[in-house]
Amino acid sequence: MNLTKFTLLFVASTAAVMSLSACTDDNTTTVGKVSPKLTVQSDKTEPYIPSLMAGEKLVNNLCSQCHGDKIIPFVQSYPNIKGQKSSYILKQLRDFKSDARQDLYMQSVVKSLSDKDLQDVAAFYSTLKPLDLYERSQEYYQK
Ligand code: HEC
Repeated sequence: MNLTKFTLLFVASTAAVMSLSACTDDNTTTVGKVSPKLTVQSDKTEPYIPSLMAGEKLVNNLCSQCHGDKIIPFVQSYPNIKGQKSSYILKQLRDFKSDARQDLYMQSVVKSLSDKDLQDVAAFYSTLKPLDLYERSQEYYQK
């Protein structure tokens, strides 16, 4: 390699590194200030009409073994969520997914679900008749 070639190569690579780092600086400032919040928001504000059929399928496959009528009366830590408002259920599910709310079972259940899945499931639960725990408790506790 002769000297001219070497100098050219050196100048070119220095210019490349400089432009790259200039780029990175630019991106960090913009991304840090604006982009992340906007990106997260856009998913949640995207209009979507939940599907009760899709919600029912997911609930039967993934939720009923813990939140179903047969188990709720016996396991004190499993909440009774049938008939709960869909907006409340959806907030809890999103919080579990983002780890803002912590529970080992729930965090692992919702990890693989999309935000639309969560909306379907929340809508479906909100349409169900609540399980009457008072009635159930009368059968199991002594007066
Ligand atoms: C392995 C058992 C298990 C499975 C499966 C499960 N859950 Fe849960 N779920 C729990 C437990 C335990 C809690 C209580 C967590 C806590 O104490 O914070 C909970 C809490 C919740 C809550 C919050 C209730 C409230 O009042 O704040 C919602 C909503 C919920 N689950 C929905 C679901 C949905 C929807 C599915 C299916 C996609 C599901 N769960 C699957 C065990 C389970």
